[in-house]
Amino acid sequence: MARRATAADLAIDGDRLLRRLRELAEVGADPRGGRTRLALTDGDKTARELVVRWLTEAGAAVRIDRIGNIHGVIQGLADLPPIATGSHIDTVVSAGAYDGCYGVVAGIEVLQTLRAAGEVPRTSVAVLVFTNEEGVRFAPDLLGSRVIAENLTLEDALVSRSSDGCEIGEELQRIGFDGDVSPGALRPSRFVELHIEQGPMLEAEDKAIGIVEAVQGHSWWQVTVEGVANHAGTAPMALRHDAGAAAMRLADTLIRDAAERGIPNVATVGMITFEPGAINVVPGRATFTLDLRDDSPYALRRAEQRLHEALLRLDRAGYRTRALCTSRHEPVAFDAGLCDVLEQVAARQGLAARRMLSGASHDAQMMARVCPSAMIFVPSHRGISHNPAEHTEPSQLVQGAQLLLHALLELANNPEIHHAPPAL
Ligand code: GLV
Ligand code: MN
Ligand code: MN
Repeated sequence: MARRATAADLAIDGDRLLRRLRELAEVGADPRGGRTRLALTDGDKTARELVVRWLTEAGAAVRIDRIGNIHGVIQGLADLPPIATGSHIDTVVSAGAYDGCYGVVAGIEVLQTLRAAGEVPRTSVAVLVFTNEEGVRFAPDLLGSRVIAENLTLEDALVSRSSDGCEIGEELQRIGFDGDVSPGALRPSRFVELHIEQGPMLEAEDKAIGIVEAVQGHSWWQVTVEGVANHAGTAPMALRHDAGAAAMRLADTLIRDAAERGIPNVATVGMITFEPGAINVVPGRATFTLDLRDDSPYALRRAEQRLHEALLRLDRAGYRTRALCTSRHEPVAFDAGLCDVLEQVAARQGLAARRMLSGASHDAQMMARVCPSAMIFVPSHRGISHNPAEHTEPSQLVQGAQLLLHALLELANNPEIHHAPPAL
C-alpha cells in the first residue's frame, strides 16, 4: 500500500522558483546587463506589484505597512505568532539577479508549496518584503526592517530624502505602497532569511549551505573636503589647496589601512565627485562616500577614529572637512538555538553546511532585535555580487529554498520546542 505523503516529503516547485527569479530579474533591466531598481522608483513599483501577485497566487493574505514593507501571511492552525522569512527586492545600481530577490521568491515558493499540498502548519507563516534594504537611494539602509525593529522611528524614516530630492513618504504614495498597517503589527516568533552568500567561502569549500551566525558591523560616511578652486595652469603646486587631491590621498590612506589590517576589516570609497568639475580647474570641493566594516565593534571604532584623525590633519593643513554618518550598526550575533535548528534540518536534507559570518548587511540583523533570527546562505559563484555577473547554480538555488521550506515547517509545527522561553 502506498505510504501517505507527509510533511517531510514536501518539495518546492524548482521550475517555478527559477522562472519567477528570471521574471523579476527583467524588471528594471539596464544597458549594462544588470538591473537597476532603486527603492521606490517605477522599477521597484513594478517588482512590488509582481511580488504581491505571486503572494496572492500562493494564497497569502497581503498587507502593506506604513513604511511600505509587504507582509504576506498564510494562516496556521493555532493562534500563535507567525514564523517569518523574507528579504528585499530593491537593488543597487547595475545589480545581479539574486541579491534579496532569492529570499523573497523562495519565501513565496514555501507558502505556495504548503498551500498546494493542503499542509496547514501549527503557526502562521509570513513572508516579509522590506523597503529600501540597499540604502542606495535613501539613507539609512535596512530602512523597512529598522522601522519594524524600532531602530528608526516611522516619522524620521518617512522624511528621509533621496539624492534626487524625493521624500520616502511621497514616493511611497506615488507608487501606491503607503499602507496603513503599523510596521510593528506583525511580530514573528522566529525570523529566517535565505540569501546568496555574496562571498567566495561556500564555493571554495564545496559546501551547499552556510548557517550564518553573525553579521559584521558597518559605518557609512559622506565625507566633504573643501579647498580653493583655482586655475589648473597657473596655480603652483605648492600653493594649491586642491580638495580633489586631498580627498584622493585620504581615500587611499583609509583603503590601504584596511588592506594592511586584512579580513574582515574592509573600506570602500564607492562614489566620489569633484566641484566645480572641469578639466582645467583645481577642485574646490570633493565629496566621497566611505563604507567601513568589521566584525569587531572595537576594530570598527578604531577605523572610525582613524578617519577622524585624518580629517583633523587636513583641517590643520588649511582644508575644511565634514563627515556625516549616514548609517551605522554594530556587529550582530544571530540566535544560537535557531542556528542549531537550521543546521539539523540541513543535515536531515543531506546538505553539507558550514557556520559562517556575513560580510554584507541584511534585514535579518534588524529582525534580530524583534525575535530570535538567523540566516541561510547558498554559494555565490566566484564570490561576485552587486554585479550583473552574480551567479548561483540553479540546483543550489532550489536546494536552499527546499531547506527553507523544511526549516520553516520544523519551526511552525513545533512551537513548544523551538519557542521555549530561555531558562532562568
Ligand atoms: C547590502 O547589500 C550591503 O551590505 O551593503
Ligand atoms: Mn541583500
Ligand atoms: Mn545588496
